[in-house]
Amino acid sequence: MGTKVGVIGSGVVGETLAGGFLKHGYEVMRGSRDAGKLAAWKAKAGANASAGTFAEAARFGEIVVLAVKGTAAEEAVKLCGPETLAGKVVIDAMNPIADLPPANGVLRFFTTLDDSLMERLQKAAPKARFVKAFSCVGNAYFVNPDFGGVKPTMFICGADAAAKKQVTGVLTQFGWESEDMGGPEAARAIEPLCMLWCIPGFLRNQWTHAFKLLKR
Ligand SMILES: NC(=O)c1ccc[n+]([C@@H]2O[C@H](COP(=O)([O-])OP(=O)(O)OC[C@H]3O[C@@H](n4cnc5c(N)ncnc54)[C@H](OP(=O)(O)O)[C@@H]3O)[C@@H](O)[C@H]2O)c1
Repeated sequence: MGTKVGVIGSGVVGETLAGGFLKHGYEVMRGSRDAGKLAAWKAKAGANASAGTFAEAARFGEIVVLAVKGTAAEEAVKLCGPETLAGKVVIDAMNPIADLPPANGVLRFFTTLDDSLMERLQKAAPKARFVKAFSCVGNAYFVNPDFGGVKPTMFICGADAAAKKQVTGVLTQFGWESEDMGGPEAARAIEPLCMLWCIPGFLRNQWTHAFKLLKR
């Protein structure tokens, strides 16, 4: 039996990450407030896939992935149950995108640079072991992306070193190199990378890139 992963989110991010975990031998339960939304996915996703409510998927997961609309993230944590998330590795793939149109290709956030969505969620579920990951690239590249032999960089952060090590293992399976940017406050820098990633898309319809940290 593979590690159990609860994926909270019925959107494309939840679907793509669930597919990646299934591909790599994990068991996955996806959560939605309306489990009917996931029936078609469950029917084709195979024997290791199941669907339930946010709370059921959170209970199921040894690892929990949060992949809901940023403005709904705190509500989703409440629905999962902060006590249910306690002690679990929680991958936060979300971005705090406001319900406003981009300004000349630049997304608008509802957080400031002295704050981040992940820090808000960590306060809402203090015993959960949050790790920011997958937030700075389009979902088409989440799982074993092909950049001509070059491994792209996933920027991660969080308070719990063991949790970051586990997520680094997942990212290695998913074909990424991880760069650990430190504690939860680093989410203030990682989340806005989503703005940068989206600009070529909004301005030039170019969505086929990822970040790489060059080092020497
Ligand atoms: N699109 C990308 O390529 C990409 C890449 C990196 C990160 N992200 C981030 O990933 C997250 C998910 O994106 P997405 O496009 O897959 O999905 P989305 O459309 O942003 O969100 C869909 C999910 O949000 C939940 N939701 C919406 N309103 C809610 C509310 N009031 N209370 C509780 N839950 C609510 C929905 O719940 P129900 O299932 O109950 O309807 C659904 O599961 C976002 O934060 C996005 O910024 C996106």
